[in-house]
Amino acid sequence: MIAVIGSNMVDLITYTHKMPKEGETLEAPDFKMGCGGKGANQAVASAKLGSKVMMMTKVGDDIFADSTVFNLESFGINTKYVEKVKGMSSGVAPIFVNPSSSNSILIIKGANNYLLPEDIDRAEEDLKKCKLIVLQLEIKLETVYHAIDFGRKHGIKVLLNPAPALPNLNIEYACKCDFFVPNETELEILTGMKVNTIDNIRTAAKVLLNKGLRNIIVTMGEKGSLWMSQTDELHVPAIKVNAVDTSGAGDAFIGCFSHYYCESNNIELAMRKASLYASYSVMGKGTQTSYPTIEKFSDFIQLYE
Ligand code: RIB
Repeated sequence: MIAVIGSNMVDLITYTHKMPKEGETLEAPDFKMGCGGKGANQAVASAKLGSKVMMMTKVGDDIFADSTVFNLESFGINTKYVEKVKGMSSGVAPIFVNPSSSNSILIIKGANNYLLPEDIDRAEEDLKKCKLIVLQLEIKLETVYHAIDFGRKHGIKVLLNPAPALPNLNIEYACKCDFFVPNETELEILTGMKVNTIDNIRTAAKVLLNKGLRNIIVTMGEKGSLWMSQTDELHVPAIKVNAVDTSGAGDAFIGCFSHYYCESNNIELAMRKASLYASYSVMGKGTQTSYPTIEKFSDFIQLYE
């Protein structure tokens, strides 16, 4: 079982020709609303591939709460630890996707801010049965740190996706994780270094490895993904696809990586599958709605494996 301890959001996705200037009103061609949040997206990706997943998160006291829980359950995700926070709004994410498929995201965390270290302690018996804990940074940092310590204490592997980037992330905690999975922007913010080529991404990743990280996997969009550990290195190039919406592609990668890593204990295999899964996801609109089921993914990968 995989435990995702993290966020859920309602994605409000506007597809734009261009962003309005201050004071300007512009018409946009399309809009989609869907379930998102980095935590929930990663949980759904793993579940769509067939993993058993439990999700710890908090929803608000509003019209979005029940549909968020219903959505997770529709993928077979265990929602025993999805709780409502009285008087709070659910997490919401206005997203803007431009014609070249890139996105800009605002997040309003709402109830996600109320997932606390004591919630992890209350779930101890169930969490102890998990093989992997998956974390992001859309909940309180103290909860993330507590989850990392919990994983260490119980010998459970931990994957931390430092998204959205927080310059004040304590790297000592990142070093306690088995996998640290930033994208290029997050790596740049964490290291203060330029990361526009694979060579300087490698140099920035080495800076973090020298601080004691075990495995860093940098997701690099069209450039693919790069895994580096103290002894190994692997670059998996991305396949060429017709991208329409890259929102949630990093989450697709992480959910898929988690699924295949738990199944095989093989980092290279999990990375290659995750790279293809993320590529598939950018061909559809939305976040979770663009993630293929295991059946669709199996058909797709036959073309590339
Ligand atoms: O990574 C994409 C996700 O970031 C979106 O689903 C949005 O909710 C934000 O959390």
